Amino acid sequence: MEIITDIASLRTRLERESKIGFVPTMGNLHEGHLSLVRIAQKNADCVVVSIFVNRLQFAPHEDFDRYPRTQESDCQLLEKLGVDIVFLPSERTLYPVPQTFQLLLPSVADSLEGEFRIGFFRGVATVVLKLFNIVQPHVAVFGKKDYQQLHIVRQMVAQLNLPVTILTGETVRTEHGLALSSRNSYLSEGEQREASHLFRTLLQVKHEIVRGDHNYRSLEVSAKQVLSQRGWKVDYIAVQQQTSLLPAEGGDTDLVILGAAWLNQTRLIDNLELSVD
Ligand code: PAJ
Repeated sequence: MEIITDIASLRTRLERESKIGFVPTMGNLHEGHLSLVRIAQKNADCVVVSIFVNRLQFAPHEDFDRYPRTQESDCQLLEKLGVDIVFLPSERTLYPVPQTFQLLLPSVADSLEGEFRIGFFRGVATVVLKLFNIVQPHVAVFGKKDYQQLHIVRQMVAQLNLPVTILTGETVRTEHGLALSSRNSYLSEGEQREASHLFRTLLQVKHEIVRGDHNYRSLEVSAKQVLSQRGWKVDYIAVQQQTSLLPAEGGDTDLVILGAAWLNQTRLIDNLELSVD
């Protein structure tokens, strides 16, 4: 496995590759990330994983400085998996000058996560576009764990005619249902146990919809109450259409329930797809 830190060397190395698979990450890798790498390996001859904690997608008060950085163990995991190249740029490599060119995003980027993390998706889209331009992958793999991010990346690829195919990986969870996340390392043992209640609440909403309750707005309110009573501070629980990420109405068939909530100092997100007839 090669570890490459500069853009020119990466480009030279990739010139001879005919099918490049790419998995962008911010590191502190877990089984969720690794599942995306396996998908890339099945769909490409040469797999590049990037590790870069992207300052642009963090608001000044957010956890950029304390975001877990574990490059050495990350590289060991990737080497064991047979990854070809790890791209490990420094901040000066990706942002040699202030990134004053940024993207203007559609309004879906201001809803849900975008409402609570102003500028988040602009930062994500900007770095993903830069990484796509640097790596020029044929396929890139994103996790459904970050459902709205996946939606926005797909829209960007379609509307900007980027020559890359986006593949998706299902959310990998602990046996208790908690979605794996680098931010889970902020949780104490007790908080880890409580944390699975975000997913359980989404599951409960799903069961109620499957049982025939299509009053989505009131299901959202009840789910928020359940979590608040357990001590969570809920940003949103929302039943949306899968394809548009707009609020679902009775009659819509392909739905996704998304949630974001704070457990003390840690903000967790999760989602669950479901189809109704
Ligand atoms: P990061 O949070 O490191 O996630 C990298 C990729 O792993 C994303 O596509 C994310 O959806 C996926 N992922 C995270 N947890 C997962 C889980 N439990 N199961 C399956 N996939 C999971 O997302 C980012 O980094 C950044 O925003 C990035 C796209 C790299 C841009 O900076």
